[in-house]
Amino acid sequence: MTAEQVRRAVEAVTDPELRRPIGELDMVREIRVDDGIARVAIVLTIVGCPAANRIESDVRRAAASVPDVDDVDVSVGVMTPDERKALTEKLRAGRPARQMPFGPDSLTRVILVSSGKGGVGKSTVTANLAVALAERGLAVGLVDADVHGFSIPGLLGIPAGTQPTRIDDLMLPPVAHGVKTISIGMFLRDGESVVAWRGPMLHRTVQQFLTDVFFGDLDVLLIDMPPGTGDIAISIGQLLPHAEVLVVTTPQAAASEVAIRSGLVARQTGQRVIGIVENMAAFTLPDGTVVDLFGSGGGTEVARALSTPAEQIELLASIPLSPALRAGGDAGTPVVLENPSDAAASAIDALAQRIVTKGRGLAGRSLPFAPS
Ligand SMILES: Nc1ncnc2c1ncn2[C@@H]1O[C@H](COP(=O)(O)OP(=O)(O)OP(=O)(O)O)[C@@H](O)[C@H]1O
Ligand SMILES: [Mg+2]
Repeated sequence: MTAEQVRRAVEAVTDPELRRPIGELDMVREIRVDDGIARVAIVLTIVGCPAANRIESDVRRAAASVPDVDDVDVSVGVMTPDERKALTEKLRAGRPARQMPFGPDSLTRVILVSSGKGGVGKSTVTANLAVALAERGLAVGLVDADVHGFSIPGLLGIPAGTQPTRIDDLMLPPVAHGVKTISIGMFLRDGESVVAWRGPMLHRTVQQFLTDVFFGDLDVLLIDMPPGTGDIAISIGQLLPHAEVLVVTTPQAAASEVAIRSGLVARQTGQRVIGIVENMAAFTLPDGTVVDLFGSGGGTEVARALSTPAEQIELLASIPLSPALRAGGDAGTPVVLENPSDAAASAIDALAQRIVTKGRGLAGRSLPFAPS
């Protein structure tokens, strides 16, 4: 009886990378209970699996929680190549290797965050938006597609040198603040750079991010785009023609024109602009003084220019300049978690809510989630 209880408790432990119960992943082997000592054998996917310690201690705790278990002895082994193959097949759930899971039939909303101009805060907004969506209980993935200026790992506090775990040809993305994250920065060796990479190489990299990285079932996949409308934007346009696009701009009139152009280019590939985000907007000092460093009206102007007779494009958020947002980015501690009452944090949180509520609004397609 007790052994059965121990098995049930152990099988319910989740693998922090695969995010499934280890029982379901066929990682639990023999379980015996002798004289109050639970002997539990588990197998991990690969030698040196980074989640090993966590799984082992969770298993120990789970077994110890069963009544009449006084002590726990955990032995950790490694799957055979055949067992691993069976596991990766199970994880792909019938999808052939090398097939992109985010095609038009997928239930995952793919949202590109783009802008014409650099430095308007795309990456900062994307990282915080991803965390805010994950906080709402959604399964969120984030692809840093800015291969030349990747900044997402830093913004999410993923330590330099962190790499995806590989199970044969599947790559498991590191999870930061609940967000499954992948970035070219995780693939470069010390001193290596992608500056010289040309179109085809970049295309292959982005394609690999979308095909070989195991994100599991996501509600939302956010993609942090590089500035402008270069090779990467074209590749993503080809790979994800049904994606939704958030256009980020500043309140400055001079930034609007390039932002409008980036929206128009996205639309040409078939992608749908779902709204505008104005960043670095006016902020209010404690004495009530309003400081509008970059002027005002840019977001509204871009929204108006991208609206068509058939569809009104809305300004979904206006995010003020915020030292806390900047500092959170530098420290890798997103402001939406660290300082949720900050004005920029609450604007991003409201943006997350609007995106969830808006759904993807494509007739005839089931929505992956309901407003929370
Ligand atoms: N609302 C804000 N208040 C204060 N600082 C901000 C705000 N938004 C972004 N920043 C800061 O502005 C700088 C640029 O932001 P970020 O890197 O997110 O822009 P980007 O559009 O992704 O740039 P790139 O085009 O280089 O990818 C960062 O130092 C960031 O901390
Ligand atoms: Mg960026």
